[in-house]
Amino acid sequence: MSMTGKEIRDSFLHFFAQQGHQIVPSASLIPASDPTLMFTNAGMVSFKNIFLDLEKPTQRRVVNSQKCLRVSGKHNDLEEVGRDTYHHTFFEMLGNWSFGDYYKKEAISWAWQLLTEVWKLPKDKLWATVYNTDDEAEDWWRTLTDINEAQILRFAEKDNFWEMGETGPCGPCSEIHIDRGPGICEKENTPGHTCSVNGNCPRYMELWNLVFIQYNRSADQSLSELPAKHVDTGMGMERITSILQGARGNYDTDLLRDVIRAMEELSGKRYGSDPEQDISFRVIADHARAAAFVIADGVVPTNDGRGYVLRRIMRRALRHGRLLGFEAPFFSHATESVVRLMGAAYPELIERKDYVTEVVRTEEVRFSDTLGRGLSLLEQEIYSVRKSGQTTLTGDAAFRLYDTYGFPLDLTEDFLSSEGLTLDRAGFDQAMDEQRARAREGQKGTVYISAGLTDLRSRFAGDRIVEWESEVLAVLVNGEPRTNAVRAGEEVEIVTAETPFYGESGGQVGDTGRIETSRGDIVEVLDTLKPQPFLVVHRGRVQQGALQTGDRVRLVINAERREAIRLNHSATHVLHSALRELLGPHVRQAGSLVTPDRLRFDFTHTSPVKDEVLERIEDMVNAHIRENAEVTSQEMSLNDALKSGALAFFGEKYGERVRVIKMGDFSTELCGGTHITRTGDIGLFKLKAEAGVASGVRRVEATTGDGALEWVRQREKVLKEVGTILKGTEEDAVEKLEKLLAERRDLEKQLAQLQNKLAGSQSDEITARVRKVNGVNVVASRVEGVEDKALREMADKLRDKLQPAVVVLGTVQGDRALLLVGVSKEITKTHHAGNIIKQIAPIVGGGGGGRPDFAQAGGKDVARLDEALRKVYELVEKGS
Ligand code: ALA
Repeated sequence: MSMTGKEIRDSFLHFFAQQGHQIVPSASLIPASDPTLMFTNAGMVSFKNIFLDLEKPTQRRVVNSQKCLRVSGKHNDLEEVGRDTYHHTFFEMLGNWSFGDYYKKEAISWAWQLLTEVWKLPKDKLWATVYNTDDEAEDWWRTLTDINEAQILRFAEKDNFWEMGETGPCGPCSEIHIDRGPGICEKENTPGHTCSVNGNCPRYMELWNLVFIQYNRSADQSLSELPAKHVDTGMGMERITSILQGARGNYDTDLLRDVIRAMEELSGKRYGSDPEQDISFRVIADHARAAAFVIADGVVPTNDGRGYVLRRIMRRALRHGRLLGFEAPFFSHATESVVRLMGAAYPELIERKDYVTEVVRTEEVRFSDTLGRGLSLLEQEIYSVRKSGQTTLTGDAAFRLYDTYGFPLDLTEDFLSSEGLTLDRAGFDQAMDEQRARAREGQKGTVYISAGLTDLRSRFAGDRIVEWESEVLAVLVNGEPRTNAVRAGEEVEIVTAETPFYGESGGQVGDTGRIETSRGDIVEVLDTLKPQPFLVVHRGRVQQGALQTGDRVRLVINAERREAIRLNHSATHVLHSALRELLGPHVRQAGSLVTPDRLRFDFTHTSPVKDEVLERIEDMVNAHIRENAEVTSQEMSLNDALKSGALAFFGEKYGERVRVIKMGDFSTELCGGTHITRTGDIGLFKLKAEAGVASGVRRVEATTGDGALEWVRQREKVLKEVGTILKGTEEDAVEKLEKLLAERRDLEKQLAQLQNKLAGSQSDEITARVRKVNGVNVVASRVEGVEDKALREMADKLRDKLQPAVVVLGTVQGDRALLLVGVSKEITKTHHAGNIIKQIAPIVGGGGGGRPDFAQAGGKDVARLDEALRKVYELVEKGS
């Protein structure tokens, strides 16, 4: 009986626990404050700062099973998934870690021990690779293990130097591959192909990668030595499970088989009976895991960033669902089976089960609308291709369908070929490349790379401290370090060794205040940023003096403003707990903004929150405020924090010390922000608005303390004023206003009747003044007291009554003269309304134009209206 997936995971963790490793949970798929990366794509991502010496580890040996997603950037397997039986977007990476502790020797020897002694893999089937200059690793393989020496190979950078992305910690690696034996590789007998390790051949499969982290790759591509040497290993959980279970492929292991089974039951088709169909089964199974985990970690499908990647993954699965013959929504059944299968190892899935299902269903419905719309657009495109006598659809058009409307390319191709047309594939690829380049650009942006700043460190003096003394470490002007003093008026960025200023992070805006020296230099701080952990940058303007690097300075924050920020930040925690209590535990923070005046809180929830529920939320928050519960902040390890019941959301990393903010017994959250000491300090909490921001994400806005009072007062004032204007009180304002509006509607009706009457009687007078010019009835007349619409109707009626006719009406509205010209259709060839208006409008100081049968213009020179009207007869005579 082979081990189950769960037993394999546990035995890995247990083996390393025995070697002194601490077992830690998987970090979120959303990397914590790492703008260079979209998703966690390797176990080491959450430990990056430890490798870079930006963070001290609490443990030097750690082991875990990390959720990973490889769908963007350097490691992207999206297009491979489905075609073979061992690629995934989502997978689990088993890893053991040394933070400056053991190195190559132990890593190699334990790996061998686990694989061959604990798991009893046949030694003669295992191969080891090392980086081509890494004699040390090769020696350990030879001396510490009984691997067949001929099965130790050296490879160059491409295979044996591991990097997480364009930048970051990296180093040489040693991989262990397994020979799965002849018969696995389809190209086995193809001339030119020899089955070999790293030979692009499934017979030899990479099982485990031991990376010896010793360098950091900078943005300029250079490598620098890290202060310590570390070990980062990664073994694909699905691969080792498939080997240990003797499965045909990863999708036949108990990690994935049930998801496929659920799809077999729903579709009535069988996995393994048709190679094309099997691709679809695998795509759906893989993507269901990716979608369930990514959504559970707080991402919803959108049109950019992470949400866009999620949408693409889901739509690819939905497309393959169609190939399996699903017409009704099916994908939530797949994600539900993922939850059943993986929930025990990853409790976040269980906790957010209903939410995941809801998001998946909504997206699926939306996608079928998209397909419908895409098809009609494609039909239009096909029509224009045909009309222009072509047989190829341009790459741009196909890309637009794909990118803007989410219409899959293979569907476009199917459709075109059934119509006897083709697609410009090269053009499509080019458009795709351009888009990718744009996406890469978009990802870079946020890293703060001002010269020299990335190596500086500054310490936050503490939540309660409003004044502090420290030393200036750097002064920058326009992003360049300044060696001599800055002068009054200059805009500067200042970094100090320590600071009481809170740098913008976690949704809380940065502090303002001033930095001064005892000599009398003063810099007004307008904003404070935290471009990376341990770096606070004060941005401001020099008011007086000549500050420079090395100066001792006094840093003073605007304490009143900070206090207002505190109230709002603490209020978001209270609000968060109330939302979870009243809407359900699927609610989690999806973003926030905390300023002195207001707070904004985004959270995962699929439907609008009804007014009466909003009222209950507001009541609950205010009740917690009145409890006047104590607010405490405590530093602890993440494990302890989780044990104490702290809400951990994406953005947190494991293995580090975290700050836990606790309020009474209703809120425990990890948070680095600044807070009050008792909830009563918030005073009053007032919700202002609720709306949707993306599918599955709602947003509320609120104010607290003085801000809330001011908001209520402002409304009260407006209501009082309305009461006074209505000659009543606030209480009867609504009734009075309704009455007034009803009266107004009556009056408008009466007015319209009167105007029509007026227009009618004036029309009779006007008709009497018609002149016949060259067989055309011409009338140009001034009209009194008739509004736009009635005037136009009047002109139309006169024109019809007098046809063939040229009718020009002029009137004064307020301080403007208005002219209207109507010409009977049959004479517009000889008399053009637009031309007539062009010649008379300038007389009243205006301009205008219009159609041949109707034109209008306005002007300021009211006194010359009659002159303009007189001119009409002359123009018609001349044949205008
Ligand atoms: N970080 C290494 C990898 O992802 C272990 O392959």
